[in-house]
Amino acid sequence: MKIAFVGKGGSGKTTLSSLFIRHLATTGSPVIAVDADINQHLGAALGLDDDVAAELPALGARLPFIKDYLRGSNPRIASADTMIKTTPPGEGSRLLRVRENNPVYDACAREVELDGDAVRLMVTGPFTEADLGVACYHSKTGAVELCLNHLVDGRDEYVVVDMTAGSDSFASGMFTRFDMTFLVAEPTRKGVSVYRQYKEYARDFGVALKVVGNKVQGQDDLDFLRAEVGDDLLTTVGHSDWVRAMEKGRPPRFDLLEEPNRASLRALQAAADATYEARDWERYTRQMVHFHVKNAHNWGNEKTGADLASQVDPGFVLRESVTATA
Ligand SMILES: Nc1ncnc2c1ncn2[C@@H]1O[C@H](COP(=O)(O)OP(=O)(O)OP(=O)(O)O)[C@@H](O)[C@H]1O
Ligand SMILES: [Mg+2]
Repeated sequence: MKIAFVGKGGSGKTTLSSLFIRHLATTGSPVIAVDADINQHLGAALGLDDDVAAELPALGARLPFIKDYLRGSNPRIASADTMIKTTPPGEGSRLLRVRENNPVYDACAREVELDGDAVRLMVTGPFTEADLGVACYHSKTGAVELCLNHLVDGRDEYVVVDMTAGSDSFASGMFTRFDMTFLVAEPTRKGVSVYRQYKEYARDFGVALKVVGNKVQGQDDLDFLRAEVGDDLLTTVGHSDWVRAMEKGRPPRFDLLEEPNRASLRALQAAADATYEARDWERYTRQMVHFHVKNAHNWGNEKTGADLASQVDPGFVLRESVTATA
C-alpha cells in the first residue's frame, strides 16, 4: 500500500507520518518510509540523531543512477538522459518491490531501528535556497515519483511518504500515486483551506483522501472539523506528551503512546488497508501515462530534444504479477 501524508506547513505531517510508520513497524509488515517534504525532518522524527540524518543518501542526488537502473532494457527509453520524472515503465523496465534488496535501496535507503523493528528510510535530500523554483527542485521529488511508478507493492507492504501539499505534487502526477492520502489538518481555517484545494485536485483523479485532525483539543475543535470537512474526517489526534518527549530527544517506548492516539493510528491503517480491494492497476498506469504525456508536451520534449510520448508502451500495465527483468 502506498500512503501519503500531506497538509499545511506545521500541521503535523512529519509527526503523524512517523507515528504511523512506528505503528506499522510493530505489526511486522515491511515498511519503506520516504521523506519527500521540503523540510526534511522524518529521519529525526524516527529517532535519528541530527548528524546521522544529515548523512542520509539523497535520492535527488542519485537520479541518473536510479533512472539507469529502472530503465533496464526498455527499448523505448534510449538513455537515462531522456528519462524524466514521469517516464512510465514498459516492457524491459526494472520494477521495485517492497520486500527485496535492489541496487536502488542499496544506494538510497538506510535501515532505521524502532524499538527492535526495522524500517527502510529514503529521503529526497534537503532543498536549499538555490533549488527553489528551478529544475532540480522538482527533480528531487521526481525521484520519488519515478520510484512509485516502478513499484509493485502488495497487501501488507507499506510505503509511507511525508509530503508537502504544494503545487509541485499537482504539476506532476505525484498526488495520484497513493492508495490513500491523509491530509493532516489542525482545527483552524488555514488548516482546512489546504483540504479544499487538495480535494479539488483530487476529485478528477479519484484520489482517496481522508482528513486526520491534529492537535484537536476538545468538542469544539471536533465540531469545527466535522462542520468543515464532513465525512472526510477519518479520525483525530490530540496533543501528545509522547510526541513532546520525543521532541526533547527522549522518546519513550512506542507502546507508551497514549491509547486514544494509538487507536487513531489503527484507524489510519484500517482505512488504508480497506482501499486494497478497489485497487485498479490499469487506471494507475493510465494516470502515469496521462501525466507523462502532459509533462513531455509542456517541457520534457524541449528539454531533452526527444519525443518523450514515444516512451509509452501501449500494451504495458503495471501490476503485482508483472515480472521484472533480471
Ligand atoms: N499531536 C501532537 N502532539 C504534540 N506535538 C505535536 C503534535 N503534532 C505535531 N506536534 C508538534 O508540532 C510541530 C510541527 O509538527 P510537524 O513537524 O510534524 O509538522 P509538519 O507538517 O511536518 O511541518 P513542516 O511543514 O514544517 O514539515 C512539531 O514540533 C511537532 O512536534
Ligand atoms: Mg514536516
